[in-house]
Amino acid sequence: MSKILINGGKKLNGAVRLQGAKNSVLPILAATVLIRGESVIHNCPSLSDVEAALKILRHLGAEVTRQNDSIVVNSSNLSGFTIPDELMREMRSSIVFLGAIAARMQKAVLSSPGGCELGPRPIDLHLESLSELGLHITEEGGKLNCSAENGLTGSNIHLSFPSVGATENIILAAVTAMGTTVIHGAAREPEISDLADFLNRAGANVQGAGSDTIVISGVIKLHPTEHTVIPDRIEAATYLAATAATGGKITLLGAIPAHITPVMKALETSGCEIRVNNREVSLIAPVSLKRVPVIRTLPHPGFPTDAGSPLMAMLTVAEGSSMFVENIFENRFRIVDELKRFGAKIYTNGRVAVIEGVKKLTGATVECTDLRGGAALVIAALVAQGETQIDKIFHLDRGYERLTENLTGLGALIERC
Ligand code: EPZ
Repeated sequence: MSKILINGGKKLNGAVRLQGAKNSVLPILAATVLIRGESVIHNCPSLSDVEAALKILRHLGAEVTRQNDSIVVNSSNLSGFTIPDELMREMRSSIVFLGAIAARMQKAVLSSPGGCELGPRPIDLHLESLSELGLHITEEGGKLNCSAENGLTGSNIHLSFPSVGATENIILAAVTAMGTTVIHGAAREPEISDLADFLNRAGANVQGAGSDTIVISGVIKLHPTEHTVIPDRIEAATYLAATAATGGKITLLGAIPAHITPVMKALETSGCEIRVNNREVSLIAPVSLKRVPVIRTLPHPGFPTDAGSPLMAMLTVAEGSSMFVENIFENRFRIVDELKRFGAKIYTNGRVAVIEGVKKLTGATVECTDLRGGAALVIAALVAQGETQIDKIFHLDRGYERLTENLTGLGALIERC
């Protein structure tokens, strides 16, 4: 099993070009199920989650090829409508394929996605919403059997929580449905807008993405198109937090500053100097980080839950105490026990975590519990004195392309073995 070894204590210094957003590529790949013909998606990172999505497309009968960071998908001869159990288990967010498969094939069979490291991850909002569009869903033996013999029909949908995945699933089901669908209480994440941009380029009519009310007017069919995926805002937050923690300076290339406003605000509160220049974001760390009194994770445009773990790692060596209130995933603090192995002082109670800054961290042997928790361990290891060994790094491979190469380029003593 691969592991990462880090000798900490080096300031990060340099520049990194951001990868395409994992959480944008996935729903856009699902959208290609709706398109007969060859679509090209640029700026696709090489990640295990992206590979899992390509496996699903091939399983459905799409022709898929990768040319560097561009993926070409031709779903003209799509014939499948099932997602096998092993692929659903491999990536829980495969559920986002349901709306597109149901719209294209008028049926779909997939296994209920299990929970994940972050908690049960229910899909009730997905299923309720797709049912309102006319998808008949029965569950037996862990399988979801879905059918819509007469196709899908637009409807007024009210989401009780602005679920990112449920919003994406509704959009994907509604773009070729009969009539108009309105999503009230929609998620506002930038990845939703990126999906809408892709679909509208392909001939769909999706209005209001990025707001909490999205109107989708069904069209007869979509046509092939070309699209470049937005940069990964959580990768951006991760490198900024790592640089802040090690007292260095960094320039992120290809960023969209507006996507990381709450993260930049928290970093400035901790004493970092942030400069924005069009598609570049630069950070200069202070000699000593200050506390951030409270960080509340919220749906966009609030502070993103996925940036919580990296910033928690950074704040373990700040002066004073910082507090996190996690409002999205119940198991987000699973990584805390591993962070404590470095000598971090973190106290959790339910969805609240208090971090009492310490003067130094010491290298340890730790293991990733989830994707962003793994990023937190890397950051702690970069700060810690001595050597750290990080196991179960397959979690990191789900969301960070070229992690060891990028960090080596920034001056870190890191190797994968
Ligand atoms: C997306 O997950 C992202 N994943 C997550 O990123 C991200 O943390 C999350 O949105 C929040 O921003 C992808 O886009 C692939 P949700 P998703 O539906 O769609 C509850 C990463 O690290 N909920 O907005 O699964 C759910 O349990 C990943 O890149 C229901 O109760 O998030 C959770 O508590 C981690 N019922 C909350 O809503 C439902 O039907 C947020 O879930 C759906 C969700």
